[in-house]
Amino acid sequence: MPWYSDRILPHLIDHVASIDPLMKQRERIVPLASGRVLEVGFGTGLNMAYYDKTRVSRVYALDPFMHLPERTARRIASSGIDVELVRAGAENIPFEDETFDTVLMTYTLCSIPDPHTALEEMHRVLKSGGKLVFCEHGLAPEPNVKRLQHVLKPAWKKISGGCHLDRDVPALLKSASFGLDGLRAGYISTIRIVSFNYWGEALKRN
Ligand SMILES: C[S@@+](CC[C@H](N)C(=O)[O-])C[C@H]1O[C@@H](n2cnc3c(N)ncnc32)[C@H](O)[C@@H]1O
Repeated sequence: MPWYSDRILPHLIDHVASIDPLMKQRERIVPLASGRVLEVGFGTGLNMAYYDKTRVSRVYALDPFMHLPERTARRIASSGIDVELVRAGAENIPFEDETFDTVLMTYTLCSIPDPHTALEEMHRVLKSGGKLVFCEHGLAPEPNVKRLQHVLKPAWKKISGGCHLDRDVPALLKSASFGLDGLRAGYISTIRIVSFNYWGEALKRN
């Protein structure tokens, strides 16, 4: 249904991604980025308002798709930060090893077809001592919510543009050699199937 995926869905996603609980998470997470930053799954640039201009030298905005280009350009322009758009998927990041001080990723891991490979790529392009700063929704802790997430996943994927409700974020981070020391988790709203968030900083140690 191209009319839905091309005309309706980008507006719907931008609207949902702008609701208060998500913006509060952005406000908490994005200022932790510093230096040369790769933002994975840049979307419509909703994080631009929260970067700390004094700590970020440049943002490389990676996304295989361009959504709502005019709105995205406005958000970039009003941030006053130097941004380079990179049209590519996270499973094959077109940069050399150890290029970035920070990889930032918000509400994107759920949509990446191969999240394990994508996280390995993020680990590869981070400098040693660099950090992955993230906030993602994923698998809830309670068995009844988990069950619902598994059952609803196929239908949800179709209407949401490929979002997986039940990604096990800590397991994925660990599988790509990221430490979990800085991991925090909790519900950020009452709609439990989509609102269990994992956020924090994961250092690259080697
Ligand atoms: C729900 S949106 C989130 C956008 C933005 N990160 C935010 O916080 O508002 C998911 C984003 O992941 C992007 N995406 C999908 N597949 C991807 C991939 N393989 N690599 C990187 N980004 C991808 C989509 O194009 C979309 O912009």
